[in-house]
Amino acid sequence: MVEGDDAIEVVVIRLAIGPAAVRASAVLLSDAERQRASRFVFDRDAHRFIVARARLRQLLAVRLGVRPESVELVYGARGKPALALPEADSDLRFNVSHRDEVAVYAFSFGREVGIDVEAVRMIRDADAIAARSFSRRENEAYRALDPRDRLLGFFNCWTRKEAFVKALGDGLSLPLDRFEVSLAPGEPARILRVGHTPGDDCGWRLASFSPAPGFVAAVVAECCRSHAGFAPSLLGAAVSV
Ligand SMILES: CC(C)(COP(=O)(O)OP(=O)(O)OC[C@H]1O[C@@H](n2cnc3c(N)ncnc32)[C@H](O)[C@@H]1OP(=O)(O)O)[C@@H](O)C(=O)NCCC(=O)NCCS
Repeated sequence: MVEGDDAIEVVVIRLAIGPAAVRASAVLLSDAERQRASRFVFDRDAHRFIVARARLRQLLAVRLGVRPESVELVYGARGKPALALPEADSDLRFNVSHRDEVAVYAFSFGREVGIDVEAVRMIRDADAIAARSFSRRENEAYRALDPRDRLLGFFNCWTRKEAFVKALGDGLSLPLDRFEVSLAPGEPARILRVGHTPGDDCGWRLASFSPAPGFVAAVVAECCRSHAGFAPSLLGAAVSV
């Protein structure tokens, strides 16, 4: 674990999306966020967004010493949220991912971060998605796995790649075969290559963890000046708020 200013802090929350929690959360959101919530087709998705966004506001507010409703967010060209001025002066960076009722949040002062969580579940076209989205070397590693490890290997790769593109803020505009990650269950999570640059020299570090039973997550952060690697400090695993 990296201590001090360079720490990457990961918070895991099990989202409570009952009517009372949704009502209490909605009052913390901005008008634009409430409008976005109203555009979801399914209530369940709207409720998850409302509660996840309210928790984000609360987590940011605690770190900034302001009220959750007063946190102002801006969005990058591909939709990555960040703090608007004046809070941006704090250099607090964050990223969020949610799947079902599990939400994961990464925070850092001065280091860009990306995070992704997925439920490890059967998907019929996993092999086809791997063939399409993973690099040749990742596909070889995926196909070499014992069939019992394939599902976890698939979601290891998926979350690690997605955490990286989310750290960059590019979403899926970055071709997914431009970089490679490790995926085999039991092996360390690593960025193996970015373009022609070996992962160890690429300026980014990757860690993987299970935020709740049946879920896998990954977090990617810019390298800090004084450390070669990092492991996220996990706070409040599966806490109901
Ligand atoms: C952002 C993106 C990369 C991930 O979205 P997702 O997996 O559907 O959803 P997640 O819960 O992990 O992340 C969503 C959160 O990321 C943040 N986000 C949105 N755009 C982002 C971007 N460009 N960069 C970083 N973070 C972003 C937001 O906080 C968002 O939360 P919100 O919906 O509550 O506002 C999306 O653009 C996307 O295209 N996903 C496609 C998935 C895919 O095919 N992955 C292949 C991996 S092999």
